[in-house]
Amino acid sequence: MANGPETSNTAERAELQSLVRRHGEELASQLRLHHRNTFPPEAEKTIRHFSPAEAAKLIGIHEGYLRQVAAEGGSIAPEIKNGRRTYSVESIHEIRKYLDHGARGHRRYLPHRTGTEHLQVITVMNFKGGSGKTTTSAQLAQYLALHGYRVLAIDLDPQASLSALFGFQPELHVSENETLYGAIRYDEKRRPISEVVRGTYIPDLHLVPGNLELMEFEHDTPRALMRRKPGDTLFFARIGQALAQAQNLYDIVVIDCPPQLGYLTLSALTAATSVLVTIHPQMLDVMSMAQFLQMTGDLLEEVAQAGASTNYDWMNYLITRFEPGDGPQNQMVAFLRSIFKQHVLIHPTLKSTAISDAGLTNQTIYEVERSQFTRSTYDRAIESVNSVNAEIEGLIRRAWGRAV
Ligand SMILES: Nc1ncnc2c1ncn2[C@@H]1O[C@H](COP(=O)(O)OP(=O)(O)OP(=O)(O)O)[C@@H](O)[C@H]1O
Ligand SMILES: [Mg+2]
Repeated sequence: MANGPETSNTAERAELQSLVRRHGEELASQLRLHHRNTFPPEAEKTIRHFSPAEAAKLIGIHEGYLRQVAAEGGSIAPEIKNGRRTYSVESIHEIRKYLDHGARGHRRYLPHRTGTEHLQVITVMNFKGGSGKTTTSAQLAQYLALHGYRVLAIDLDPQASLSALFGFQPELHVSENETLYGAIRYDEKRRPISEVVRGTYIPDLHLVPGNLELMEFEHDTPRALMRRKPGDTLFFARIGQALAQAQNLYDIVVIDCPPQLGYLTLSALTAATSVLVTIHPQMLDVMSMAQFLQMTGDLLEEVAQAGASTNYDWMNYLITRFEPGDGPQNQMVAFLRSIFKQHVLIHPTLKSTAISDAGLTNQTIYEVERSQFTRSTYDRAIESVNSVNAEIEGLIRRAWGRAV
C-alpha cells in the first residue's frame, strides 16, 4: 500500500523528464527553423553602405571636405547606388589612411594606439540575464571598428548570442576547438589564439566565437587546480595569457561574459583593463546586482591573494533599456547615481524597438537601415547608442592619456 504514492511519484518524474526533454527538443528545432528563415546559414552577413553625411561623421570631417578628398582619388571615391553617393566601410577606411598619409597637419584619422598606449580589454558583465551585455558588447565593438580602431570581440558565453549577432550560428558554424576554450584549455589541444580568431564583415573587427564547449572550462578548472604543478598558469590568468599573444594586432578587446560568475568570468575580469556592468534599472535587477557585486568582490580578493593583478583603468555602470517616461526607473537611476556617483555613465541606452527588432534578425542598430523604422524611432535609438559609445571611447582615450 505504501508504494502507491511512490509509484505515481516515480511515474510523474519519468514523465516530467521526457516532457522537459521533448519540449527542449521541440523548442530547439523551432528556433533553428526561425533562424533559418530570418537568416539562412548560407547567407553571408554584410554591412550596409553609408551616406556621405554618415561617412563624414565616422571619419570626423565635414561633408564638404569628404567630397573634396573623394574627388581626389581612385579607391576612395563613393559608389553610386540608385543615384545616390554611398561609401562602403572599406572605402571609409581607405579615406582615413589617405588623410593620414597625406600629411595634412597633426591630426590622426586612423586612431590606432601607439607603443606607449596599452591594449584596452573591456569586460562586459553582470550575472543578471538579459541586462543587455551582448547587445552592448556588439554595439560597442562595431562602433569602435567603424571609427577606425582595431577591435577583437570575444564571445565568452556558451549561449553564443554575440556570435549569432555576427552571423555565426554556434551549432552550424563553430566546430570543436574553435572558441576561446581552444586557446585557454589545460591539455595538449591548446592552440594559439590567432587560430580561433575570425574576420567579420567589418574591416578590423575580428571575433572569437563561442559555443557550448566553453562550458568545459568550468568543468576542467577544479580538476586542473587539484593536479596543479609549479609553473602552471592558473585559471584566472589564462585569458590574459592568450590575449598577450595577439596584443600587437588590436587596440581594444571587448569580452561579452555569460550571465554567471564562474571561472570564465573571473578569468575575463582578471584580464580586463576596464569593466562595464550593464544594469536594467528595476528593483529585482538592482537587488541581484548587489549580491553579484559582493560575490565578485570576494572572489577577486581571493584571486588577488593567489597572485592575480586586479589593476584597472575604469569600472562603470551602464543603464540599459531605459525608459525616460517611467517614474520608478528614473528613481532607480537616481538611486544608483547617488551610490555609484561618477561610476555610472552619463548616457543610458534607451529602450527601443529599433534595437530589439534589429536583434531579431541578428543585427545591431548600426546594421539596419533607417528606412525600416519610423524615423524618430531610429534616430532616438542610434543617438542614444552613439552617445553611450562615444562616452566609452572617451574613457578609452583617457586611459591612453589622449585628449578626449
Ligand atoms: N536598448 C534596448 N532596447 C530594446 N531591447 C533591448 C535593448 N537592449 C537589449 N535589448 C533586448 O533585450 C534582450 C536581452 O539583451 P542581451 O541579449 O543583450 O542581454 P544579455 O545581458 O546579453 O543576456 P544574457 O544574460 O542572456 O547573456 C535581447 O532580446 C535584446 O534584443
Ligand atoms: Mg548575452
